[in-house]
Amino acid sequence: MSQTKIRVGVVGAGLRFTLMRAIIDLPDSAYRLVAVADPNPDARDAVGAELPDVRLYADHRELVADPDVDAVFVLTPDFLHAEVGLASLDAGKATFIEKPLATSLEDADALIEAAERNGVLLYVGHNMRQMPLVEKMREVVESGVIGEPRAFWIRHFIGRGGDYFFKDWHAEKARSGGLLVHKGSHDLDAMAHILGTRYVSVQGSGGLTVYNGAHCRDADAPTPDARSYIDNWPPLAQRDLNPALDVEDLSHVNLVCENGVLGTYMQCHYTPDYWRNYCIIGTEGRAENFGDEGGDGVIKVWTNRRRGYDPEPDIEIPLSEDAATQDGHDGADLRILQNFADSYHGRAEPLTSIDAARNAVAVGQLAGASIGGDGRMLAVPVPAGRAGARIDG
Ligand SMILES: NC(=O)c1ccc[n+]([C@@H]2O[C@H](COP(=O)([O-])OP(=O)(O)OC[C@H]3O[C@@H](n4cnc5c(N)ncnc54)[C@H](O)[C@@H]3O)[C@@H](O)[C@H]2O)c1
Repeated sequence: MSQTKIRVGVVGAGLRFTLMRAIIDLPDSAYRLVAVADPNPDARDAVGAELPDVRLYADHRELVADPDVDAVFVLTPDFLHAEVGLASLDAGKATFIEKPLATSLEDADALIEAAERNGVLLYVGHNMRQMPLVEKMREVVESGVIGEPRAFWIRHFIGRGGDYFFKDWHAEKARSGGLLVHKGSHDLDAMAHILGTRYVSVQGSGGLTVYNGAHCRDADAPTPDARSYIDNWPPLAQRDLNPALDVEDLSHVNLVCENGVLGTYMQCHYTPDYWRNYCIIGTEGRAENFGDEGGDGVIKVWTNRRRGYDPEPDIEIPLSEDAATQDGHDGADLRILQNFADSYHGRAEPLTSIDAARNAVAVGQLAGASIGGDGRMLAVPVPAGRAGARIDG
């Protein structure tokens, strides 16, 4: 039976507008894109040229007030998630907010409070939960084949860090929350989902260790388009970095989970390769991925004891037989859009979790505070009355 299409308004038509391709292109889509708001006239012109029937607004407040909009997708830079999200929720619109939920715990709490007060759906776009890497790693843990998880180590090699995150708003803590919030929230949410837990303490060390030696543009020079040239190598050959940059390019974060698991998250923005490596050690074995996408990505699981290094695991699980679909994050974007539509219509529970997203924001923020302070372990606050809130989606 066909369902009424959800009429969508999108706020922010930048790089992540690619998420909307799935809405625009699919003939049997659950959605119809009706409006876009972006203060940048070039962004509006580009949408208007491609989609002449879509209403264009310069101000998000006009879009959230549009009676033809059922649901608002917030695809703005991170520091605007709270302002735009609150306007949308207070207008009574179901609201999809890209990750991170917000750039601070205070803003995340304000969004959660507004969703509850208005009784509307607040959904966070932590699409990694639906990537084969995360789905398969969760299946491995749930199968019990490695026993009870006791430790995890995440290594995030961000090979295009200088191109993507050190030239525009991402490089300023006030606008991205820092890269432990902006990028780290993805992996922190994914690992909490894999292990079915939340983080209770965090400690960090890190700094600006390479890009402080690269060329920064003049304060009044325009921001270069990160997408137009991404072949800067080695990292110190980068030019035109954001002169106001104050984020770390290398971070090591120690984590304590509610279920007792101890973990480490490492993020480096100047590696030659670009991928995520997750390792989970349990009481009866160890799981680790090599490659993080369909095609040639695999999870190897060692359950029998070895004398030394053994590249041959006891179990090898391909992430997917299909080649990776880069634009759609290995199929996760389509799946998250389907789940949002099903959640909107009350046919399914959200596969992402607002409480877990809040926890990930808090961890990233506190890890940054630990790095910027005296390196102390800090407690992650759980708001009163939410100790049992659903975190695993
Ligand atoms: N889940 C994922 O895999 C994924 C991937 C990429 C980006 N993201 C998230 O998507 C969001 C957008 O990232 P991006 O890379 O597209 O950024 P971007 O800088 O390329 O685009 C942001 C757009 O928002 C517009 N904008 C700025 N202020 C606005 C306002 N007040 N109202 C409306 N529009 C405004 C800008 O003009 C720009 O067009 C970020 O929160 C990012 O973290 C998520």
